[in-house]
Amino acid sequence: MLVSLYRKHSLVLPRLTAAFSSSVKDTHTKPKTAIVMLNMGGPETTDQVAGYLHRIMTDRDMIQLPVQSKLGPWIASRRTAEVIKKYTEIGGGSPILKWTNTQGRLLTQALDQMLPESAPHKHYVAFRYVPPYTEEAFEQLEKDGVERVVIFSQYPQYSCATTGSSLNAIADFYRNREIPQNIKFSMIERWASHPLLAKVFAERIKEKLERFDRSVRDDVLIMFTAHSLPLKAVSRGDTYPHEVAATVAATMNVLKVPNPHRLVWQSKVGPLPWLQPYTDEAIKAYAKQGRKHLILVPIAFVNEHIETLHELDIEYCDELAHEAGIVQIERASAPNDHPIFIAALADVVASHLSGGPAVSKQFLSRCPHCVSERCKMSKEFYRKLCHTIDTDFKPEKTAVRA
Ligand code: FES
Repeated sequence: MLVSLYRKHSLVLPRLTAAFSSSVKDTHTKPKTAIVMLNMGGPETTDQVAGYLHRIMTDRDMIQLPVQSKLGPWIASRRTAEVIKKYTEIGGGSPILKWTNTQGRLLTQALDQMLPESAPHKHYVAFRYVPPYTEEAFEQLEKDGVERVVIFSQYPQYSCATTGSSLNAIADFYRNREIPQNIKFSMIERWASHPLLAKVFAERIKEKLERFDRSVRDDVLIMFTAHSLPLKAVSRGDTYPHEVAATVAATMNVLKVPNPHRLVWQSKVGPLPWLQPYTDEAIKAYAKQGRKHLILVPIAFVNEHIETLHELDIEYCDELAHEAGIVQIERASAPNDHPIFIAALADVVASHLSGGPAVSKQFLSRCPHCVSERCKMSKEFYRKLCHTIDTDFKPEKTAVRA
């Protein structure tokens, strides 16, 4: 069904770029359907870095520390200067808001053409750690008087630490506030194996493979890299590692090249064990094995941000690879505004609006070793918010408008 919707409307997408460049959406038209794009966000300016780090380090869904209310802010303030330096080196801020807005505009233009019955569609950016915050997006969409809300995670692969944290923030927003009964809510919390997502990653890899001389091209090692996760979370049953692996497998299936590939993990923080092998150590180890031609493919990010522009481009491609004696290393671009990626977003949402479940049973089931009351409450909240019929569900006593 997913790809069939895309095929049915495949003539829509080539027209989008022109439509976007010439368009400023009619801001006076009342939107009918809100597409809420969840992501962690990144500081647009260096002034936002301290607050951004503070919010991350005090978010227990994202990271668990002993005496977090004290240790979290302490770590955040100790890291602020170093992180400001990194943002300065990539031009003074994260481009994630710019990319998310571009993707949102192109996505809603596609949806307006594909699904006139739910148009006009409007995107709302809901970031977790920098403005525009999750609660601002929900305040605005209520003010706009939308009839339908699709909560759409921009992390294709689900993790309780990322998408789970953003979803908990929405649950927090409605904890002391009435859920509007005139809005129909639903959510897309994962789309790791979507064929068009695999296709855009394959295209991004091909762009870089072509930069290698023909004599070595088929032997270039394709190194998929994703943000690592503490092993504690993996042992709890977080689905992120296997969802990332599913995207890798789907991408290699589409790519159809003889090259070897591996999945490695980046951006570990703190002393506890995380998923390995780490990207930097893998680059050094491959260099020792004599593999001197590599492509790094950020497989869990849909747009550029600090982990691609600084960690991969500057720290690994410019500095580490040079020191390790790598002959050529390229970094595949994030999907950003690639037309196939916009098609992927549009197909995911259009399929959902055309009959997908309001909330998936996969989301409603908890990790086998989850002991978090917050997770339990969140699942119950979404059963209620998305009007799922579940005879086992006993709603808690919270304010819901009659
Ligand atoms: Fe995964 Fe609670 S930690 S559901």
